[in-house]
Amino acid sequence: MRKISERWRIRLAQRTAAGTFRQQRQTEDGVDFYSNDYLGLAKSTAFQEKLLQVARQTPSVLTGTSASRVLYGHDQAVATVEKFIAAHHGVARSLLLDSGYHANLALLSAIAQRGDTILIDELVHRSVHDACRLSFAITWKFRHQDLDHLERLLSKASGNTIVAIESLYSMDGDFAAIPKIWALCQRYGAELVVDEAHAVGLFPRGLVHEYGLEEKVLATIVTYGKAFGLNGAAILGSTLLCDYLVNYSSPLLYTTGISPFKALSIHEAYLYMEEHPELRERLRDNIAYYVSLLPMDCAVPQSPIQPVYFPKMHRLQAAVDGMQRCGLTVYPIFSPTVAKGKERLRICIHAFNTRKEIEKLCQEINTWKY
Ligand SMILES: Cc1ncc(COP(=O)(O)O)c(C=O)c1O
Repeated sequence: MRKISERWRIRLAQRTAAGTFRQQRQTEDGVDFYSNDYLGLAKSTAFQEKLLQVARQTPSVLTGTSASRVLYGHDQAVATVEKFIAAHHGVARSLLLDSGYHANLALLSAIAQRGDTILIDELVHRSVHDACRLSFAITWKFRHQDLDHLERLLSKASGNTIVAIESLYSMDGDFAAIPKIWALCQRYGAELVVDEAHAVGLFPRGLVHEYGLEEKVLATIVTYGKAFGLNGAAILGSTLLCDYLVNYSSPLLYTTGISPFKALSIHEAYLYMEEHPELRERLRDNIAYYVSLLPMDCAVPQSPIQPVYFPKMHRLQAAVDGMQRCGLTVYPIFSPTVAKGKERLRICIHAFNTRKEIEKLCQEINTWKY
């Protein structure tokens, strides 16, 4: 048998040969068409000033909680912000976690048991796939946004069934038909879990709330590393669900309680967004402008995430380099993050992009794609 490190070397060499070797990267100069900072909070000095005020007023929140949330590590500030978040999203309770990845693990690894079935859209985020590997339930994937396929699997599923979807898909930028999926779940006695990582912010309370389903779905995940410009996440749901997770979810229990400064920063981000509705309006205008400049089959209406597919990988890398030379920062997405043959530029539109920048971007897309 090969030495384990030899295996790593071979796998890394395969990536290098395929041109998909990943490296950790710092923020690039140039116009941002890549980050998830949809509303510009991560770059906002005004928002940063608000966070500094919080730290100056109560410096004690800057340090850690030193224990699990069930061993005195549940800071009072965290408890207060969790109440605020629950009220804002119209649910009974919320639980704050350190990231969206962590929140999906905490929720989906714990809620189903051996003999149950979790049905996931094949394009849900990696954290959902990994959470299912931690769960004792069976996991089946249904084809992306294919409700007929979902229904066939629902009719065959055993035990209690949970369906997991995203409201706005992180790589394809398309929206889930949440009311239809929820109705399908109802018909088969299944529960629905919705990851709102990319929708919350674009919609102030998320899409589940827009559809009035916030108390009907089993749980919603909202994350704070994207439109909120921070990091962290919350699980939203009933008192019963949250009590259950506090008792049985390992990723929630066997970790140090979330920092109070993080919780208070998240609270500040909610307030900042409420005080600045113009950010959301600018984002929507910019998306509409981008969509208007490209052929219909090349843009997703109303979505801040715009995939641009390149049938040939070398064209994709050439496009990224060409755009970089023009001062536009974009990035390519390769397999295995997306399926082979679906490599793409993942363009993100922001509230702070100017019309001129969007025009330049679309010109470049036309140059490289066609
Ligand atoms: C749909 C979705 N869920 C969860 C996550 C993980 O969120 P975080 O970056 O806060 O860990 C992401 C991150 O990209 C995501 O796109």
